[in-house]
Amino acid sequence: MKRRSFLKGAGIVTVLVAGGGVWRAYDQGVFSVGKGPAYEPWRDWRSNPNEGALALVRAAILAASPHNTQPWLFKVTNSWIELYLDTDRNVGALDPYLREEHLGMGCAIENLMLAAAASGYLATVTLIPGKLGPIPAEGKPKLVARVDLVAGKHEESELYDAIPRRHTNRGAYNSQIPIPPQFVDALSRLASEEADARIFLFTADGDRKKIAEISSAANTELYSDPEVEGGSDRWIRIKWSSVQKYRDGLTIDAFGLPPIATAVAKTMPLWMLRWAASRSTANGYAHLMLSAPLIGIIAVSDRYDQANCLRAGRIWQRAHLLATARGLAGRPCNEAVEMIDHERAQGKPAQRAGLLAEVLGDTTWQPTFLFYMGYPIWAARSSPRRSIDRVVL
Ligand SMILES: Cc1cc2nc3c(=O)[nH]c(=O)nc-3n(C[C@H](O)[C@H](O)[C@H](O)COP(=O)(O)O)c2cc1C
Repeated sequence: MKRRSFLKGAGIVTVLVAGGGVWRAYDQGVFSVGKGPAYEPWRDWRSNPNEGALALVRAAILAASPHNTQPWLFKVTNSWIELYLDTDRNVGALDPYLREEHLGMGCAIENLMLAAAASGYLATVTLIPGKLGPIPAEGKPKLVARVDLVAGKHEESELYDAIPRRHTNRGAYNSQIPIPPQFVDALSRLASEEADARIFLFTADGDRKKIAEISSAANTELYSDPEVEGGSDRWIRIKWSSVQKYRDGLTIDAFGLPPIATAVAKTMPLWMLRWAASRSTANGYAHLMLSAPLIGIIAVSDRYDQANCLRAGRIWQRAHLLATARGLAGRPCNEAVEMIDHERAQGKPAQRAGLLAEVLGDTTWQPTFLFYMGYPIWAARSSPRRSIDRVVL
């Protein structure tokens, strides 16, 4: 099932109330949103303040990751933590160079570093250099970063406190509430210490419209490739029993439908969900993006540089935590950059890169992550997480 086109089907879903079987409601977790073992990591992440470096991993696994693949593995001692990318946990043709999975690793590093400061460690991160290549045929854990820990000051921050409240919000935003200039200013400074990364922000209608159109067209083209669709489908979790078993992937609760539509969608059989998704309105995705008053682009000096991906992921996690702390919501919208990878992998002319460079007005920076932010109409729900015993080596 297409991730984005499914998410656009909210209006249609509400028409299908009569189609859902109430008998399925209990089975499908309609009355158990955010409950069960798959959601425990959001609640127990600070439960044991004396467990040392393991507490940092509990924060790291609450980070964002593409399609909620949670590609991370950790080796933990009292004086260092190594972070490995599990290359098997990928979305296939949607991310042919694992660029986004490396960004997800960056998100985990950011949470880990915030938790280290809050737990009284002075933490130093070393990003392992390298160039991205095709997905290895045989997956094996790949070291991407190491964090060294010594005793330091306890430093809790608003970003650290926001960790359990940060959720990707795919619902519509309230376009009538402008974003405070102080927030835009704070966001624009998030990458100021990075030599190889920049954050570009757009609030003007014309700029946002241009980006939304590029993204919407990229979304349609990208998902017309059955291989991309297949790579994405692997991580769509429809059954509540699968959500609780695998504790990863994209769930109906996280699709951003209004609460009643979510409940109805959860009672539908798969064929009906597919049908509802296929009936989504034209330009629905562009409309959704434009309901948010701010669009951002994180760009780096080289999109296929491993350390740059990790840096960009850290910046997104920080940006999303800052938004959460200040009452705003955010959502990545990465189809245009995914199309850059897709064109490259297929040996096609680099059309999207040119379009995004026009938007930035600067060819020295290569976009690697797009997002939008605003005030949400509905609160986002949490997504499932694997427990730390499944990710600690
Ligand atoms: C590199 C990266 C790319 C992502 N791209 C998209 C995207 O294009 N659209 C979207 O709705 N979510 C996107 N996400 C959000 C993930 O799907 C989300 O982080 C994951 O499902 C976990 O949910 P959470 O962020 O609510 O914890 C992306 C996340 C990362 C880290």
